[in-house]
Amino acid sequence: MNSDAYIVDSVIRSRKAVRVFRPDAVSKEDVIAILDVARTAPSNSNTQPWRVHVLGGHFKQQLSDALATAYADVTHPPLQHMPEPLPDSFRSRQEDFGVRYYGALRIDKTDVVARSRATGRNFDFFGAPVGMIFTVDACLKKYSWLDYGLFLQTIMIAARSRGLDTCPQVSFARYQTVIANHLQIEPGHEVVCGMSLGYADNDSVVNRLNIPRESVDRFARFDGLDE
Ligand SMILES: Cc1cc2nc3c(=O)[nH]c(=O)nc-3n(C[C@H](O)[C@H](O)[C@H](O)COP(=O)(O)O)c2cc1C
Repeated sequence: MNSDAYIVDSVIRSRKAVRVFRPDAVSKEDVIAILDVARTAPSNSNTQPWRVHVLGGHFKQQLSDALATAYADVTHPPLQHMPEPLPDSFRSRQEDFGVRYYGALRIDKTDVVARSRATGRNFDFFGAPVGMIFTVDACLKKYSWLDYGLFLQTIMIAARSRGLDTCPQVSFARYQTVIANHLQIEPGHEVVCGMSLGYADNDSVVNRLNIPRESVDRFARFDGLDE
């Protein structure tokens, strides 16, 4: 393996969803540098569908407070981010994730109050000093959301190469109106997700989940490559 591949692969493999951050500040220069790398992500016909609100200090805190209030309202409709019923293969991975995550937090499967409290930490950006909210023009189709995924992953990798960590968070999409009002989101835009950005607390067991992946032979089929 050449040294570029080794370095790039290592940075990619070092990314993980971090859910406990140290309070250490992230420099604005680093955030700008990360977004400057991420803007090179490819998009269909170079449409670049991404818009991001980068929040710190009291701006982030005020949004977190508003979302904590909204989250306390149990009548707020849940976010339907997965189909119901979820096909078995996906369901089993989702359940495995839950076992690992709540297990690390020492929260019992039946303890809905503790689970809900843990989920609520999303809206505090897990204590990260920087929170990002990503929006997209709601008229765009799912293909543009593909572009978005590439942009988000590039942010996460560029963050890693600077010693920073992230957690992508679809949870924010549940509160479209709260966020739209709070951040004065562009008319016609919707929230795609949020992301926490900061330095991981590596002492936290929650940051050492090592969520497994299927091996290549489970999801890839090769035909004609050996001819
Ligand atoms: C689009 C997307 C949305 C996600 N939303 C959340 C979320 O709202 N809250 C959360 O704690 N983790 C969220 N995650 C993190 C996933 O749970 C995590 O990436 C997955 O379990 C694999 O673990 P790893 O990233 O540590 O390898 C999200 C990940 C992605 C890619």
